[in-house]
Amino acid sequence: MFDVQFARSLFPAFEKEPAGSWGFFENAGGSYLPASVLDRYTEFLTDFKVQPYGNNPMARRAGDAMDEGRETLAAMLGVPIDRLTIGPSTTQNLNTLAHGLARLVGPGDEVIVTDQDHEANIGCWVRLCESTGATLRWWHVDPVTGLLDPADLDGVLTDNTAIVAMTHVSNLAAVENPVHMIAKKVHAVQGYFVVDGVSAAPHIWPDVETIGADAYTFSLYKTYAPHLGAMVCSDRLLDTISPQAHFFNAKTPWKRLDAAGPDHAAIGAIVGLGEFFDTLAIHHEIVEGDRTARTRAVSALMRNHETTIAAPLVNLLVDLDIRVIGTADHPDKVANFALAPTAVSAREIVERLEAAKIAAKADHFYAARLAAACGIKRAARISFAHYNTAEEVDRITDVLVAVT
Ligand SMILES: Cc1ncc(COP(=O)(O)O)c(C=O)c1O
Repeated sequence: MFDVQFARSLFPAFEKEPAGSWGFFENAGGSYLPASVLDRYTEFLTDFKVQPYGNNPMARRAGDAMDEGRETLAAMLGVPIDRLTIGPSTTQNLNTLAHGLARLVGPGDEVIVTDQDHEANIGCWVRLCESTGATLRWWHVDPVTGLLDPADLDGVLTDNTAIVAMTHVSNLAAVENPVHMIAKKVHAVQGYFVVDGVSAAPHIWPDVETIGADAYTFSLYKTYAPHLGAMVCSDRLLDTISPQAHFFNAKTPWKRLDAAGPDHAAIGAIVGLGEFFDTLAIHHEIVEGDRTARTRAVSALMRNHETTIAAPLVNLLVDLDIRVIGTADHPDKVANFALAPTAVSAREIVERLEAAKIAAKADHFYAARLAAACGIKRAARISFAHYNTAEEVDRITDVLVAVT
């Protein structure tokens, strides 16, 4: 069983106010940082915040820390380091990717996007179609549930499909899409498959290689690390894409889509993310396997804890018949609930939660097209992380009973 109090003890924020007494449920927006990440970050900024990879000792330490940060993430993901791009954010990574693919598509090619996605994985493809003359095709959600039916993809996927962009888990519907299976369909027509894993990774540490996407992206600031975006690309994509980096860097695969040169100290601090998962693994006696396997095992414990403590909330949402985008009790749901009730507004729910010191938010969360497809402007999102407790969930259910 997951030791939530031990996990919380690794986060300095919870030892102080206001975070100590607030139940934080805006984790799909961004998560807290454990001490191991903060220590690495602070050490970099304090001791060697200079241009890295120089000959002086400070520059050497900075370069070494960045290399170690990249190596840590590649090992946690179980991917070759040459295929790992670390950029400032997922939005930026996807935008750079779309620019890189622009030369490979044109009139006659088709690009499929979904209206379940965050705008980061829609807008760049819409713009790509506008600038290249490729045809944009939509894979629509069910307007009642907000869910995508994989069978509907067959209606839009053709031999002309060049790119399919979709989310692994929507930040509102919060149900895992069968991306492994869809990758096969997209590859059968020789298309590139781009997956937004931002709302999946905090709950399901991604098995990127098995999924087999040509680009799998997620945001490290939602998985207890600094504000960065990770993107793992296939060899096929990196070999054909038009590089978006300086010409002298373009020969190195992992630099091809690094157009921005993100925060050096943040990359160094990823080492602390590895230490955090290691500490949790040791505490929970997870010793078998390599770093990838241990990271996944810790992530599975986290998810199990989240879904276990969320169960009373799920039961209540079902009993009260409150509309939840993606449905409340779907078997492939991660612990993230976007409430769209009719009797009371999303904003009022959030205000009442805040009065009980529960942090949540009412918004479309940049999934504006999903909200519109479901006929709502915003939802009250209650998104869990492994450091949430059953007592906090009691506070949420008490509020919901009182407010509805
Ligand atoms: C599902 C999803 N995709 C993409 C993004 C964009 O990520 P970033 O903020 O790193 O650009 C977000 C951010 O909230 C998100 O929730």
